[in-house]
Amino acid sequence: MSAAPANANPPGAPQHAPQRTPVIEVRDLVKRFGKAVVHDHVNLDVYRGEVLSIVGGSGSGKTVLLRQIVGLERPTSGTIKVFGEDPARLRPAQLQALRSRWGLQFQRGALFSALSVIDNIALPLRELRALPDNLICQAALLKLQLVGLSARDADKMPSDLSGGMIKRVALARALSLEPELLFLDEPTAGLDPMASDDYVALIRELRRELGLTVVMITHDLDTLVALSDRVAVLADHKVIAAAPIPQVVKVDHPFIREYFLGERAQRALQALPRPGQPAAPPPGEA
Ligand SMILES: Nc1ncnc2c1ncn2[C@@H]1O[C@H](COP(=O)(O)OP(=O)(O)OP(=O)(O)O)[C@@H](O)[C@H]1O
Ligand SMILES: [Mg+2]
Repeated sequence: MSAAPANANPPGAPQHAPQRTPVIEVRDLVKRFGKAVVHDHVNLDVYRGEVLSIVGGSGSGKTVLLRQIVGLERPTSGTIKVFGEDPARLRPAQLQALRSRWGLQFQRGALFSALSVIDNIALPLRELRALPDNLICQAALLKLQLVGLSARDADKMPSDLSGGMIKRVALARALSLEPELLFLDEPTAGLDPMASDDYVALIRELRRELGLTVVMITHDLDTLVALSDRVAVLADHKVIAAAPIPQVVKVDHPFIREYFLGERAQRALQALPRPGQPAAPPPGEA
């Protein structure tokens, strides 16, 4: 089978497939650092309401792709549109308005170590300078509860938190501007299996409650299987497949064989629903 084009409507897509309105459109994207090519004519669509996961070997350009989508890095050529706008072409005020429509959880946690939990979460709202501080604190407290933490955690410092709590606070901060779109770079990396399952259950719930579109980079197969509607595979400087997992695993490519067809992968893939069967209960909800 050849690689599925990014915007193909996959045959046999489940009835509940999200409505296919593109939120992100990446076209013919080329990214080079000096002579080193990272992306060579990459195409990718992300549709409203879906969880699209990006996988690829270390150094394949997953984080660089994400940084270009959110306007932190400029493409060498090609175009990227998010909500119909190209972040690379916007003036700072316009980019700021566009940025408030998404939340970003970075690969390396990135809480400010000198700020308390509540001040970390409140930071994006404070930067907007649009609300009085008592309202900002109330909003930040609500976000803290949304991610399963309590007011008792508000004054803790990042150094007092477990790995799972750090991820949750980072998520609460990413949600502080009530985004429609959430970017997660390795959200479960470094978590033990139980904390990782809890985090996956949280994302699943938030996505349902808030109607979020999620773009997630992950190495973790259990997270991938539990959350993804579609998976985009970055290899050979391109997106070689973008489709639901059962279709991606049929694409004949060494990375896909190694990543999806090993023994560990096969165990993770057993969690996928088989035709005519309900999905296995999600982690944390069994
Ligand atoms: N600012 C930069 N200048 C030069 N090269 C860079 C820069 N940022 C990233 N790169 C290179 O681009 C390539 C892709 O990096 P990227 O961080 O996107 O990989 P990744 O797929 O996210 O890997 P990992 O799974 O390890 O996080 C790497 O070779 C990296 O060294
Ligand atoms: Mg990365």
